[in-house]
Amino acid sequence: MSHRFCVAPMIDVTNRHCRFFFRKFSQHSRLYTEMIVADAITHGDKDFLLGFDEVEHPVALQLAGSEPVLLANAAVIGEQYGYDEINLNIGCPSKRVQAGNFGACLMADPGLVAECVERIKEKVKIPVTIKCRIGIDDYNPGEMLPEFIETLAKSGVSTFIIHARKAMLEGLDPKQNREIPPLDYDMVRMIKRRWPELNIILNGGLMTPYIAKNEISASKGIELDGVMIGRAVMENPYSIIDVDKIFYGDNKIMPSRFKIAEEMVHYLEVCVKKGVPINITTNNMLGLFHGCRGAKIWRSYLSHEAPRRREDPRVLSEAINLVVEAQNEAA
Ligand SMILES: Cc1cc2nc3c(=O)[nH]c(=O)nc-3n(C[C@H](O)[C@H](O)[C@H](O)COP(=O)(O)O)c2cc1C
Repeated sequence: MSHRFCVAPMIDVTNRHCRFFFRKFSQHSRLYTEMIVADAITHGDKDFLLGFDEVEHPVALQLAGSEPVLLANAAVIGEQYGYDEINLNIGCPSKRVQAGNFGACLMADPGLVAECVERIKEKVKIPVTIKCRIGIDDYNPGEMLPEFIETLAKSGVSTFIIHARKAMLEGLDPKQNREIPPLDYDMVRMIKRRWPELNIILNGGLMTPYIAKNEISASKGIELDGVMIGRAVMENPYSIIDVDKIFYGDNKIMPSRFKIAEEMVHYLEVCVKKGVPINITTNNMLGLFHGCRGAKIWRSYLSHEAPRRREDPRVLSEAINLVVEAQNEAA
């Protein structure tokens, strides 16, 4: 199971259509679902929540919850759907999540998280991993994080994705909680130093795969096992086009932005036949030409036209033509 490069779970972003699109940029990276509350899986529309395309592998299902039996049920269903990993969200700071006793607040209760993990592991064969913060609120990360890791490692977790900043559960909203408490990569390195046998994956503020690779290299004091990137992929998905080369040593020739866009036209045609509006997918494609000539017209055409012509995949072909024209004009 390789976590050398992971694309972060992001609510309202990393749905199956987004993951299908992201897979075009890298065959090997590990993709994560949005956080799904365990209860929703047990009682909700399972195909809608869990369905995915085979090309998405390796793909992890991220669960939120704190009730061991409910989590274990949801994990079993996830395994039946074919997910490669169950990941527990112990990092989300939102008020709604706290009210349900999920997410980052659980860092203060490693015993309960361990119980959840043990119950899940009794029921599924796929790996169970954890995504957490370095700490919460006024707790000292230097004490809280090692205690958390030690307890969970004993319950059989061997892969931890650590968002290298504290979560402040009072006074900051989730967006602020991804910016304000400062990043502390050394805290993550300290964990790897202490538990070299664990897979420790660094997350938070990594702007490109090259920067990320450097940040986890031995030159920084100790080598970490992988990285996870969220917002930078969302804003500029083509920025991960070299990931297979730099993280997995796979030197195959990767597709151009235009090739990817054209392949997505076919995907939209298939989606429309299944009743999925095109804008669900095109919303995730707005950053494809980030930094290129034509990026603005691409973004504005898709943002404007796709919600109006939700069953018309030609919108995407038209947007491609506009970028071609913009680039030809400049040449
Ligand atoms: C729009 C958005 C939604 C997110 N949703 C989730 C989520 O569902 N589960 C989770 O563990 N983290 C979630 N996060 C946090 C990211 O997974 C990641 O930990 C965080 O953005 C830091 O990484 P980055 O600096 O590379 O973006 C979300 C972040 C964003 C921007």
